[in-house]
Order: sequence, then structure tokens, then C-alpha cells
Amino acid sequence: MTKSPTPPKTLRGAIVGFGFISERGHLPAYALPGPTQFDIVAVADTCEARREKARRTIVPSSGERVRVYETHEQLLDAERGRIDFVDVTTPPCDHARIALDALSRGLHVLCEKPLSTSGSEARAMAIHAREVRRVLFPCHNYKHAPVIKAVRQVLDSGRIGSVQLVTLQTFRNTHAKGVDEWRRDWRRENRYSGGGIAMDHGSHTFYLAFDWFGEFPTAISAKMSAQGTFDTEDNFSCALTFPSGTATAHLSWTAGVRKVIYTIHGDRGAIRVEDDDVEVAAMSGGVNGPAAWEVTKQKVASEWMDASHVGWFRSLFNQFATAIAEGDFFGKEAEASVRCMELISTAYASARDRSIERSLSPGLTGIAARGGNLA
Ligand SMILES: NC(=O)c1ccc[n+]([C@@H]2O[C@H](COP(=O)([O-])OP(=O)(O)OC[C@H]3O[C@@H](n4cnc5c(N)ncnc54)[C@H](O)[C@@H]3O)[C@@H](O)[C@H]2O)c1
Repeated sequence: MTKSPTPPKTLRGAIVGFGFISERGHLPAYALPGPTQFDIVAVADTCEARREKARRTIVPSSGERVRVYETHEQLLDAERGRIDFVDVTTPPCDHARIALDALSRGLHVLCEKPLSTSGSEARAMAIHAREVRRVLFPCHNYKHAPVIKAVRQVLDSGRIGSVQLVTLQTFRNTHAKGVDEWRRDWRRENRYSGGGIAMDHGSHTFYLAFDWFGEFPTAISAKMSAQGTFDTEDNFSCALTFPSGTATAHLSWTAGVRKVIYTIHGDRGAIRVEDDDVEVAAMSGGVNGPAAWEVTKQKVASEWMDASHVGWFRSLFNQFATAIAEGDFFGKEAEASVRCMELISTAYASARDRSIERSLSPGLTGIAARGGNLA
């Protein structure tokens, strides 16, 4: 058996977009202990108040001052040979441009969700990562929530059989806000966000569904609506067809509560997740006699109310370091992130066209098949 390469001891990184998630989520997660030590040595942010915040907050391990730039281009020019990766945490409208530029400079890229604002941009990022042999890694941090890891264990145990139906609901009583110093409500401005709640939360919803089915969907029908004057939707629902079953999702910024509710149904049982609560109902008997249900309930503390998700990010960053060590340039997570983008774009097209069901191209799998992992 071949031994997996050891994760790098240290990775030197630069953050582009020092806003809420990089200050409150990524930065503290980089500082947590793990197999790889992450050293953030540079930042680019177009907002002077945020650059000042970075100067006051970030302390590289050398004890020197963090190097701060106004644009990602200036950062990439000045940091040549001094960093290993770029962490893209700007609003989605700029993800593709920054990631492509960083990959072209031979840097690995960690990119916040959504990977981009269109399927075509996402595909270009994937192809470029493969060509330049650098890791493109999306922040699919919900997969690292303890409760979601518990779901994976139940699925792996075979207790509920093979998955044939999934429902996913994400309730929020408002959109998430960006930092006050820049544009607090950019998520409601299409030119920055590329869309409303489907663009903001669709990725988290769809990559979980892909993972639970173990495959990608073949068709989608979607509906969306918006209250108020913003040009992005605040409610989104869709029905997805998978080769092995169906899924539905409802995402809302006008709910009366902040909560996720997921249900996963197999041919021998089901799992229900409501934030930290997991209930598993598994069938026993039933072949020659009456079926009996064994129901177990557990609480898996996952800190859903804390939007910074520090613990989840540290677990994800370990995965990023492993991908670098293994030369997994365009891996499973990256492929899922491109599929998410194709799905979101197709969902918008369906919603604009009376919710008519649209097929999804099978083409993406081809990117991985053509050599995503070139190690
Ligand atoms: N994975 C998660 O759980 C999670 C949670 C929150 C946010 N996010 C994602 O993180 C990204 C940022 O969200 P946020 O809430 O931190 O936003 P934010 O508004 O708080 O921060 C964005 C920062 O980017 C800066 N910026 C804008 N355009 C820039 C550019 N072209 N170059 C450099 N800097 C630029 C702004 O000045 C600001 O400091 C989004 O993609 C969002 O979807 C992910």
C-alpha cells in the first residue's frame, strides 16, 4: 500500500478580502493547532479601514508586520516567492478573477463559496488549476460541522440503507451582513453577489446533497421570490432529480427562525437533523415478519448559531493542506463546487422560465476524469 504524503509543516498564505469571514472565521482557525501550521503574512483589501484592521489584527509567526496591499494584483506582484497560497474571501463577483490570477502565479487557492458567480467561470477555474498543477480548494465548511460528520458515520454504517430521498431546509430571518466598513448589504446587490440566497447558501445545500447521494443530479426545477426593493431573491426552492432518487430544498432569508433542518431517507431508515439534534430511525425485521423501528436520538454540539464556524474551518484547512501534499489539484471538493455553480446557474434559468425543469450537463465529471489528480 502506498503511504500518503505527509502534510506540509508550514504554509505561508495571503488573504484577499479581509472582511467578516476572514477576520472571525479563517484567521482564528489558522491559529488553531493542527498537522500544518498556517502563517498569514500578507493581506489585500480594497477598503482602507479593513487594511488598517488587518495591520492591527494579524501577527505573522516571524513577528514582523503583516504586509498589506490595496489590490490583489499588487499583492501577487510583491509577494512572488514569499507565499504558498491565497485565501479568497472577497464577495463572489471577484472570486474567479483573483483565483485565476493567483493560480497563474503558481499559488494554491483556497476559495470561499460560492466558487464564482457562473458555471462558466467555475469551469475555467477548474481547468486552469489542472493545467498549472496547483490546488483549487473550496470552503465547503458545513461538511466539517460535527453533526454533519455524525450523519456521514450513520450513512457509512449502512443503518438506513441506500439513500433515495433528501430534503434540505435553511431558515434565516435575514441575509448575513458584511463588515460595516465596506458594503454591509452586498449580498442583496446582484453586481457583488451574483444572486440572492441561492447564490449565498446554495453551495452548502447542494454539496451536502451530492455527498449524501454519492452522485450528482441530472435535472432541476426551481422557483424564487423577493420582498422589498433588492435585486436578489430572498426565498428559493427547488426539486432535484438524482440517478438514485430525488431531493428538495428550501432556502429563506424571511424565516421566523435561524435553523437548518435536513432529512435523509434510505430504503431501511431515515436521519433527521435539526441544528445539533440528530434522530436516526432504522428498520429491523420486515423480511418474513413485521418491521420494527429502532429510533436513536443524540445531540452533537456544532455551534450553528456562531456564523464564524472556526472549528469547522480548521478541519477544512487540514483537508486543504492534505490536497497540497497529495497534488490533488482539482479534487472531489473542487468538482462539487463547480457542480454547485452549474446547478445554481441552471436553477436561476429554470426560475426565470416558469420553473420548467432543466437538465444538467454531465460534462463536469469529465474534468476530473481527464486528470484532476495529476500527482
Ligand atoms: N463558508 C462560510 O460559512 C461563509 C460565511 C460567511 C461568508 N462566506 C463567504 O465569504 C466571502 C466574504 O463574505 P464576508 O461576509 O466576509 O464579506 P465582508 O463584506 O464582511 O468582507 C468582504 C471584504 O472584501 C473586501 N473586498 C471587496 N472587494 C474586494 C476586492 N476586489 N479585492 C480585495 N478586497 C475586496 C471588502 O473591503 C471587505 O473587507 C463571500 O464569498 C461569502 O459568501 C462564507
